[in-house]
Amino acid sequence: MARKTTVRNDDDGEESGDSGRVPGSQPLGFTSSGAVPSGEQKGLEDELRPSRLEDIVGQRAVVERLRILLEATKKRKEPLGHLLFDGPPGLGKTTLATVIPRELGTDLQITAGPSLNAPKDLLPYLTNASHGSVLFIDEIHRMPPTVEEFIYPAMEDFRVDITLGDGINARTINMKLQQFTVIGATTRSGMLTAPLRDRFINREHLDFYTTEELATIVRRNAGKLRTEIAEEAAWEIAIRARGTPRKANNWLRWTRDFADARADGRITLEVARAALRMKGVDVAGLEEQDRRYLETIIGVFGGGPAGVQAIGHTMNTPAETLEDEVEPFLLREGFIQRTPRGRTITAKTLAHLGVSERSSSLTSRKRTSPDPPGLFVE
Ligand SMILES: Nc1ncnc2c1ncn2[C@@H]1O[C@H](COP(=O)(O)OP(=O)(O)O)[C@@H](O)[C@H]1O
Ligand SMILES: [Mg+2]
Repeated sequence: MARKTTVRNDDDGEESGDSGRVPGSQPLGFTSSGAVPSGEQKGLEDELRPSRLEDIVGQRAVVERLRILLEATKKRKEPLGHLLFDGPPGLGKTTLATVIPRELGTDLQITAGPSLNAPKDLLPYLTNASHGSVLFIDEIHRMPPTVEEFIYPAMEDFRVDITLGDGINARTINMKLQQFTVIGATTRSGMLTAPLRDRFINREHLDFYTTEELATIVRRNAGKLRTEIAEEAAWEIAIRARGTPRKANNWLRWTRDFADARADGRITLEVARAALRMKGVDVAGLEEQDRRYLETIIGVFGGGPAGVQAIGHTMNTPAETLEDEVEPFLLREGFIQRTPRGRTITAKTLAHLGVSERSSSLTSRKRTSPDPPGLFVE
């Protein structure tokens, strides 16, 4: 597939090649001044995305290390070393990857592992990369092996080997590239091959955010959306955001819609609670899918241990989705444990779902049973 997005970080902030964007990706469109252009095209997500390093909330240690890297890079006028971000979805990998070239004042090209089917899909990005520019590869763990092998010499020696023709007429041309930086993002660093991982000199892991950090994001973004929000409401949204800025932003937008439709437009604690209740977000921030996952382990697998593939089959949900989007937060919060034989639920889960130890190992708790008291409002 063709090139996805190119953002030239020069004065007119020109964008090209956008037509081939993969579904779910957001247009970026920024200019060197850091201002977000006011096109209708622009995804909603963009107006809330921090554009400078100083606007990034939380991830203090990561941001501090990035500052050092950026300063050293600017002083030496050398390209930044290749950089890998890993962590669950919605924690800021794309945000950081787009902030970096802006801080450096260099060009940014964007693509994603699944859209690079063959070396020829990657080649235009490599030949277009200017000195010191950034090539952001999202979901880099989904790059096929042929593309991976093609990128090794590009990352290491800034050259590519292109084979022309085949059979006895085949020739290999060695092409020099400009020195550029690959920024990779992945939800699964464990799925990267060792040689690819080793080519990233800098690796940063993003972890879940604290409630304070999320509340700061919510307050700040309510301001950007010109919406009045009560302090307790910002806190309530933060508590229920699963440690994830993207969730916090989604819940903020939803409560804002709810406030406009059902109240006077101000997000009070009552409004926030009613809105989140309607979305099925409980007091621990768990959503329908999270609870269904936990209830499957309890009801079908007697509390576990159960393999993620088996749980996925039962829920009719890809195991990959469970591993990427559901399990990291449940593990972090102690709702499940990982054992060599599979996932098991914990006492915290039983208490949260209002299931008694005994009934959990006997029969499945029916979805039709009423929600236990306290699941949605403390
Ligand atoms: N550190 C942060 N501070 C403020 N907002 C953030 C931060 N990280 C992420 N966000 C918000 O969450 C959204 C999702 O982040 P994103 O970078 O797309 O996550 P990822 O690429 O890791 O899935 C962003 O659009 C941004 O609005
Ligand atoms: Mg992303």
